[in-house]
Amino acid sequence: MSPQPQAAVGAPLSRVDGRLKVTGQAKYAADHEPEGVVHAVVVDSRVARGRITSIDTRAADAQPGVLKVIHHRNAPTLPYGPNPGSLNLPGARLRVFQDDEVHFHGQPVAVVVATTLEAAQHAATLVKIEYDAELSVTDLTDAPAPGQPVTYARGDAETALQSAAVGMEMTYRPARNHHNAMELHATVAQWDGDRLTLWDKTQWVQSPRAEIAANFGIPPENIRVVSPFVGGAFGNSARAWPHITVAVLAARETKRPVKLVLARKQLYSGVGYRPGYEYRIRLGSDRNGRLTAMAHDLRGETSRYETFSERGVLSPGQMLYTTPHVSQTYRTVPLDVNTPTPMRGPGYSTAAFAVESAMDELAHELGIDPIELRQRNEPENDQASGRPFSTRRLRECYTTGAREFGWNRRNPKPRSTRDGDWLIGTGMATALYDTLRFPGQARVRLDADGTALVESATSDMGPGTYTSMTQVAADALGLAVRNVTFRLGDTDLPPAPIHGGSLTMASVGSTVQDGCDKLRQQAITLAVGDEGSPLYGASTDDIVVRGGRLHMKDDPARGETYRQLLARNDRESLEALGSYTPGQSRSSMYAYGAVFAEVAVDARLGLVRVRRMLGVFDAGRIISPKLADSQAIGAMVGGIGTALLEHTVTDHRDGRIVNANLADYLVPVNADVRDLRAIYVDGRDDEADPIGVKGLGEVVLVGVAPAVANAVFHATGRRVRDLPITAESLL
Ligand code: MOS
Repeated sequence: MSPQPQAAVGAPLSRVDGRLKVTGQAKYAADHEPEGVVHAVVVDSRVARGRITSIDTRAADAQPGVLKVIHHRNAPTLPYGPNPGSLNLPGARLRVFQDDEVHFHGQPVAVVVATTLEAAQHAATLVKIEYDAELSVTDLTDAPAPGQPVTYARGDAETALQSAAVGMEMTYRPARNHHNAMELHATVAQWDGDRLTLWDKTQWVQSPRAEIAANFGIPPENIRVVSPFVGGAFGNSARAWPHITVAVLAARETKRPVKLVLARKQLYSGVGYRPGYEYRIRLGSDRNGRLTAMAHDLRGETSRYETFSERGVLSPGQMLYTTPHVSQTYRTVPLDVNTPTPMRGPGYSTAAFAVESAMDELAHELGIDPIELRQRNEPENDQASGRPFSTRRLRECYTTGAREFGWNRRNPKPRSTRDGDWLIGTGMATALYDTLRFPGQARVRLDADGTALVESATSDMGPGTYTSMTQVAADALGLAVRNVTFRLGDTDLPPAPIHGGSLTMASVGSTVQDGCDKLRQQAITLAVGDEGSPLYGASTDDIVVRGGRLHMKDDPARGETYRQLLARNDRESLEALGSYTPGQSRSSMYAYGAVFAEVAVDARLGLVRVRRMLGVFDAGRIISPKLADSQAIGAMVGGIGTALLEHTVTDHRDGRIVNANLADYLVPVNADVRDLRAIYVDGRDDEADPIGVKGLGEVVLVGVAPAVANAVFHATGRRVRDLPITAESLL
């Protein structure tokens, strides 16, 4: 087939669903109002560990409008069959209302269902629960980590550390962060006989379907999950959390459609979070800054009932820099908390904070420029796997970034630059995230009117999947963007992989391209075999489609439109099923980036302002530049939050999260962000996938926090190894 001209891909399109969103027509999970819907409000536990000794629902039951209060004493036993789920964690998932045991503060222990939200909310406050509380442990610092750590080793790090010309040891402590997406987690559950429809906030419609099928012992085919719009997620809607089961159970018990929306406060215990870590690094290098050894010892939070670990927290230490001797131990620390979950740049961003801070510390120790230090340790291949890199344009990210940021104007001496009361500093850090691809399918239909519908059960939590898939489809079909509609977020559509891990563009994009290629080929084959077509008898390889018109590549005058072709052949539509199965790769595939930050720190008050930030990213081909910027800038805002503001604070006496609201859990607002800019180094990665992309949404967050921390050090001479960097830590 002749390659198609690219008109939509690479164009700075605005979101195709933007108008629906700004005019309020986009329906999010909680916007769905089936006839007769009633409201459920979850009652949370007030202790972190122990047993429920009594539940008194009389006052709640007596409230007008209350239909039922469900808890472990009156709930039916649910099968809770095996469901490996999207994360496949060791342990046993929380079973709602199945016993009297409390595993964490904020665990759902009852649900009130009422005809109005207000009635349910009020009645929920009237449910009296008594507990036999046990001593809970929620502090990562003190808690033991029984069991074997995950380990990695190459060479002999301990010996190499002892003989290193330069040796350093540091411990970094990034805080627990919560995703805090704008949209609250919400589910509307409606039974129709033994069939169930869920309108759910999810990054993967397959996930609640599999979870509910397993929990209730019903066939997955009986469950339809609909999720056309998601108001941000960042990883916390990739798993089906317990409240979905609560909603389904409430609907079954009351025989009414049930809407359940977690309150903002309940998001801190009802869904997962980025775990806090302690990350100790010991490194050895020669006098020229060439790393000889690194030892990484990590402790990360998990719950007692499930073991959450993230592979990505180990990768940077293994393969980012040339290091002959590496050892790693990674211990998960079970606490009386709910289970963590991936959050944007999962693992990688935590590791990058430690590793990239440590590289900055080494650069300072040796008096070597931080970029030069990284260049000296740039590996020839992936030392963890021994594989060549498919593409790694990291050197280009460094040099482009240094030039565009004005890096070389900096005085390397810390605390050397002032602007009135403000200490000014610059810092940089490297970012990386692995390129994941998963199989999927997409259905394509071209109608007689020359418009196309492309469908795949993926999701759009914010990156702009609707738009980017429309761009890929438009070019592969040779249609204008306005003549292509992309549908997602429905289990009735052909299956797609989880919308996370920066794999959607690569995986679903390749699937969409395949389906559209097949459909275009069908149309071309139809034309060349059709005596009535001007293209009759031509070679299919010589035909391209542009603006809905098939024509000879070298003779645009000879051709006809899809509409003409379909009308003459009496076809209402053409259809094709696209698929994509990633091949075995011989290469190490990652997206990379270099992030540069300039901060100002008030010398007397310790306030930190990020004055400007530049990210330079090697993410392969950029399908949708405007949306890429939206991803990169959004991630910089998120990373500034991790660096300077975000911190889930637990009262370790009772396991309660004390800042479970957006007034006390601080996130960056407009006043916290100024000049943010992203650049993408050119080039596709043809080994990664047929459309040459490496994934963007995660890598853009990964280097932000260490770049800010390194800039704060440069501004103040103060190295802060705990996140967030607060004013107190700088005084
Ligand atoms: Mo991303 S943390 O896989 O949504």
